[in-house]
Amino acid sequence: MLIVDDDEHALSSLAELVSREGFSVATAASLEEARKRMAERWPDVVLLDLLLPDGNGMELFEDVKARAATEVILITGHASIESSIDALRLGAADYLIKPVNVRQLRAILSRVARPADLKSEIGLLRDELRSLGRFGRLLGRSAAMQRVYDQIARVAPTAATVLITGESGTGKELVAQTLHDLSRRRKQPFLPVNCGAISPQLIESEMFGHEKGSFTGALREHKGYFERAAGGTVLLDEISEMPIELQVKLLRVLESGTFMRVGSGREVEVDVRIIAASNRDPDQAVAEGKLREDLLYRLRVFPLELPPLRERGDDVVLLANHFLEEINRAESTNKTFAPATLERFCAYDWPGNVRELKNVVHRAYIMADDVIEPRCVPPELGRTSQTTGPYFQVRVGSKVADVERRLILATLEQCGGTKEKAATMLGISLKTLYNRLREYQAQSEPSAPNAQPSQPPADPVANEAH
Ligand SMILES: Nc1ncnc2c1ncn2[C@@H]1O[C@H](COP(=O)(O)OP(=O)(O)OP(=O)(O)O)[C@@H](O)[C@H]1O
Ligand SMILES: [Mg+2]
Repeated sequence: MLIVDDDEHALSSLAELVSREGFSVATAASLEEARKRMAERWPDVVLLDLLLPDGNGMELFEDVKARAATEVILITGHASIESSIDALRLGAADYLIKPVNVRQLRAILSRVARPADLKSEIGLLRDELRSLGRFGRLLGRSAAMQRVYDQIARVAPTAATVLITGESGTGKELVAQTLHDLSRRRKQPFLPVNCGAISPQLIESEMFGHEKGSFTGALREHKGYFERAAGGTVLLDEISEMPIELQVKLLRVLESGTFMRVGSGREVEVDVRIIAASNRDPDQAVAEGKLREDLLYRLRVFPLELPPLRERGDDVVLLANHFLEEINRAESTNKTFAPATLERFCAYDWPGNVRELKNVVHRAYIMADDVIEPRCVPPELGRTSQTTGPYFQVRVGSKVADVERRLILATLEQCGGTKEKAATMLGISLKTLYNRLREYQAQSEPSAPNAQPSQPPADPVANEAH
């Protein structure tokens, strides 16, 4: 382990602590010295002070390769927590707040071990994704989900606080669990807490615990979520439902790494990673005064937005078949979907997203004999609503053909490239859609082999796209 700190006293006491934990230790008091030490022997772990006389500590890890080969743990004063948050974004694994105590250090060191394992596991998941269309427990191979997997792979092994947003049923809890499973904390508990489901009178003691006799009914000492999840991850679900007074306390926990039980003046250290989730727009919750802006800022170190199911293209079919297989396996049956049923699934909006799909599959399974026909699914699946979603403006006097082209291409994009669904939404046959797409393709290709090496024909309407 390399310890980089310009405070001589801190440096020697840390070196002693760490070597007692069984690490071989090198020390450096500046960037320059650190570079020398790293050239002599590449460290597995670096304990890093950010404020060094000749620059910012993270400069040592600007190189992506350097970052991948080493675990960086920041040592930071209270005053420089802001820059630590930036460093977590850059890939630091965790941070310790000065003055560092033995317990805190031990907890982090025990978790830091073997990042190579995690990295190879993430690599493995990527392969699985390519062959099976799944990432751990998450199913889906659409472009929108691949972006989500990339973000998960990047942020999971770090200590960064993640804010997951997305409509109801898009898989926020499943993503939080996946983040936990791919972190060093995976052997410790993962505790989801629904902030909207606990009564406001109890929520503080549920979170932080209470001492015996601290209020009427507190018959014995009680450990809160933060203590029960020690070393693990707490998911604060529906974060904007948390009472405002408690948000202040949570903010203090995030800033100081400590909290107090109800009825106690003693500070307890927290060693949990916090993940927050919300199915509402958090900025709007701030505007409505339901969520504190400073808390949102702290939680949104790494924002992760889950796409609604209607933007995941063919994932609908993949998921539907997966849920059906699950039931078939449990019931020892072999029911299948009629193609027309899957078409309906593809054309529907899914306001309740994956959860709604799962429920619909279950109901359809019960209603069907061997083949699940369209009549086994609820009638609203035959209708699509066109009142939500993106739109574009049309200048009066535009050519109808140009507007049609834009509408068709935009709708197709909105459906994640699923032509059946786009055709249903547009109210045209699949054949017409294919014909149009073929025309557009032909228009954008040069008409004669020896024509000028020209630009594709200018599209007078598309250029105004918003
Ligand atoms: N990508 C996915 N692959 C497989 N199953 C999924 C996926 N996404 C969600 N699910 C399943 O769908 C259901 C809903 O997911 P989850 O509870 O994580 O959603 P949520 O976003 O937390 O919803 P809410 O906002 O209502 O709390 C769960 O049964 C979950 O296992
Ligand atoms: Mg949820």
